[in-house]
Amino acid sequence: MPSPTAFITGITGQDGSYLTELLLNRGYVVHGLVRRASLFNRSRIEHLRLDPAIGGKKLFLHYGDLNDTTSLRRLFRTLQPTEVYHLAGQSHVGLSFEIPEATCQEIANATLGLLEILRDQEQPVRFYHASSSEIFGAPLSAPQNEDSALRPASPYGCAKAFATNLCRVYREAYGLFVCNGIAYNHESPRRGENFVTRKISLAAARISRGQQTELSLGNLDAQRDWGYAPEYVEAMWRMLQQPSADDYVLATGESHTIGDFLAAAFGTVGLEWQKYVRFESRFVRPTEPVRLVGDAAKARAKLDWAPTTKMAALARLMVAADLAEPAS
Ligand code: NAP
Ligand code: GDD
Repeated sequence: MPSPTAFITGITGQDGSYLTELLLNRGYVVHGLVRRASLFNRSRIEHLRLDPAIGGKKLFLHYGDLNDTTSLRRLFRTLQPTEVYHLAGQSHVGLSFEIPEATCQEIANATLGLLEILRDQEQPVRFYHASSSEIFGAPLSAPQNEDSALRPASPYGCAKAFATNLCRVYREAYGLFVCNGIAYNHESPRRGENFVTRKISLAAARISRGQQTELSLGNLDAQRDWGYAPEYVEAMWRMLQQPSADDYVLATGESHTIGDFLAAAFGTVGLEWQKYVRFESRFVRPTEPVRLVGDAAKARAKLDWAPTTKMAALARLMVAADLAEPAS
């Protein structure tokens, strides 16, 4: 039997890199969309690309861009993927207030473009869309589930809400196998350095080594439902193995403040975070989601998925990974 073929947009990102490892381990041939940058931006998948048994044999990278639908359509035609994981897009909520048009173009319109391509495929294709808890923004109740109202509180959240609804419409209208993974925050040592958890884990490691003296942050009272990224990509894969397509909330069901994460991270290196953290207003967002905490009962029941790494363990493993990096 030929290997199943997956196509990943966002393969160079945090989730894309873990998902690639998972799919390769399960016998897939993996194709990933990469975009041109002035510096090479493949660090999260370099270990796979340079493995002679993998790079060019089971893992293939293709230049393209979410905004270039013609090249995406060509890739679908030549690769004929059986599973598509659509993870790419501007993923920073705070920055979406500064670059709203680019954010909406990449997240909302580009997803529409991909769904239109999907409609034209002759072979059956299963499609995962990386939706987000940000679609709930200012929810009327907590925890949220797949039926909670969409009340986004940022341009990013609006774009994800648009794309999530489009996926639902295309599933209903055309019978396409399209799943929304409504994921709450998931983190790892591969998290981008301008997201709060990684900013904190890096600072804890660097301050403990005498390489940094303070850490500037915005709103410390914000709360998030934080899980561990490798566990979330497992759920993405499981969604596409189901007999029918559906939407699933992916979350731990626990909510913690930034202060809680600081305490866990700095505690790992025996430091009191209060001595090092200073407030910087430029990191405060014009609006913030509130009470974002997910109810993943459906994923537990139908996908047999339950996250096991909770906030404190997550903070510890992220700091440990940053401590293990050579001092720079
Ligand atoms: P990430 O680390 O920021 O990765 C984003 C990926 O998208 C990167 O590979 C990036 O490429 C690519 N990309 C961005 N714009 C693109 C464009 N115009 N054309 C082609 N590729 C483009 O994000 P992540 O944390 O892995 O998250 C993956 C997806 O899940 C995102 O859509 C995010 O919004 C969503 N999500 C994430 C979380 C979370 O907590 N991590 C929760 C809910 C939803 P470069 O490497 O070239 O920048
Ligand atoms: N990034 C950042 N930097 N956030 C800070 C800072 C700071 O210096 N100080 C406080 N925060 C607060 C933010 O205001 C926010 O309330 C919280 O920390 C988390 O911010 P991020 O780590 O940037 O994540 P996010 O929750 O906004 O977005 C992430 O999770 C979403 C799912 O809920 C991203 O991965 C999104 O792509 C994803 O959809």
